[in-house]
Amino acid sequence: PLRIAVFASGSGSNFQAIVNAVTAGRLDVRIELLVCDKPQAQVVTRAEAAGVPVYTFKPKEYPSREAYEQDILEQLQAKRVELVVLAGYMRIITDVLVQAYWGRMINIHPSLLPSFPGIHAVRQALEHGVKITGVTVHLVDGGLDSGPILAQRAINIERNDTEASLSDKIHPIEHQLYPEVIQSIADGSIDLTWNQWNHHESQITKMG
Ligand code: GAR
Repeated sequence: PLRIAVFASGSGSNFQAIVNAVTAGRLDVRIELLVCDKPQAQVVTRAEAAGVPVYTFKPKEYPSREAYEQDILEQLQAKRVELVVLAGYMRIITDVLVQAYWGRMINIHPSLLPSFPGIHAVRQALEHGVKITGVTVHLVDGGLDSGPILAQRAINIERNDTEASLSDKIHPIEHQLYPEVIQSIADGSIDLTWNQWNHHESQITKMG
């Protein structure tokens, strides 16, 4: 099976959905590692319960983002991770990981990108008054929630929706979509090589 690492910062409900899909036989991958920048986060407890190895770190203890990413990269390489799955990992990814995993790193985001990137996507969709929002899975480049889009699902916003009620609609969609997309990558029905050559010429140039 494809060897993946999941990166998360918080509650880890998407991490749990991936674990559950593997357990249920709907997703044929091996979760080699959870990477977490918040040692106290709930996702760490979830990983321990699932028997997934955990690598935590404190960004403040490093001189730069590149420095902690270099340590993460060593962990990923030691475990021969083939696909990096960002699932609520609330940090910018630098060139250290983008270049090592270009075309092999994906993210899930709670809006229809390119609308509402960043950490307040659900609130911003409400504030803007859009009537449809959704979920996006995309390849990770050096930008904030940017990079070639792999899959999207739409969700209607109702008149009386709040940030909480809209989040409650978005989460189950994410939990269904992300394992499906990862499985499509694992079985080759999403061809990441194709995306690599059809978008982002600057990235391709950078990668030689
Ligand atoms: C998810 O909704 C994910 O889409 C979002 O964080 C949440 C994490 O929830 N990611 C972003 O906003 C990325 N910019 P979880 O910890 O319960 O999986």
